[in-house]
Amino acid sequence: MKRGICVMANVLILGANGKIAQLAEQQLLSETKHHLTLFLRNASRLKVTDPSRETVIEGDATNQQALIKALDGIDIVYANLSGKNIEDQAKAVVGAIDRTNIQRLIWISTLGIYDEVPGKFGQWNHQQLDGGYLQTYAEAAKVIEGSDLDYTIIRPAWLSNKDIVSYETTQKGEPFKGTEVSRKSIADFVVKLINDPSQEIDHSVGVNQPNTDGDRPSWY
Ligand SMILES: NC(=O)c1ccc[n+]([C@@H]2O[C@H](COP(=O)([O-])OP(=O)(O)OC[C@H]3O[C@@H](n4cnc5c(N)ncnc54)[C@H](OP(=O)(O)O)[C@@H]3O)[C@@H](O)[C@H]2O)c1
Repeated sequence: MKRGICVMANVLILGANGKIAQLAEQQLLSETKHHLTLFLRNASRLKVTDPSRETVIEGDATNQQALIKALDGIDIVYANLSGKNIEDQAKAVVGAIDRTNIQRLIWISTLGIYDEVPGKFGQWNHQQLDGGYLQTYAEAAKVIEGSDLDYTIIRPAWLSNKDIVSYETTQKGEPFKGTEVSRKSIADFVVKLINDPSQEIDHSVGVNQPNTDGDRPSWY
């Protein structure tokens, strides 16, 4: 993968029907020249708006063979996945990319995987997300961090559908800031990294809306 600004890349989006993924796709289509390969289950759900720049592949992210096929000609992988088997998905994705010359992976995770959320909000976050979710997402992140890939793990705060792009970041090892962030902001951050893949290499980045500190997100 070449360093620096990337004007036209072939981007593979895993979980392309995900809510953040759809926002990132809209932004990538309107603001960039990248080609998007959209990998998802039940592909008929996805509406293609520009067939010259979008290729749809139906597949499951635990299926390494399907992933290897989808990686043909790809420069950057953006994984917007979820679910109880997220660790298996991480293993399949890393295993597939390892069989190619591709280096760059953007991986959406969650706040709290390093017990990095301080104070009362951190306690509340544990109450909401313990019992499987945080643990499996933490294991998946370990798979990504243990790989040789140029990865960026993104740890969003609690997600809103607000029509706002406003965010700040924290790094692994720093206390998480704020309580919430819009999906639009995460999509914007992903687009930034795709446009300049040399940013945030091998970093795990917390992303929150500034000035949203509190005991819980505003809608709780
Ligand atoms: N909600 C919050 O406040 C919050 C906060 C921080 C982080 N997060 C995490 O951020 C991530 C992205 O958020 P989002 O709102 O974009 O989530 P989302 O809409 O649920 O998107 C996740 C996508 O992953 C896909 N997926 C799951 N398993 C798959 C598999 N085996 N193969 C292929 N695709 C698979 C799902 O596909 P299907 O449609 O086929 O099921 C879904 O489209 C999620 O992991 C979420 O847990 C959430």
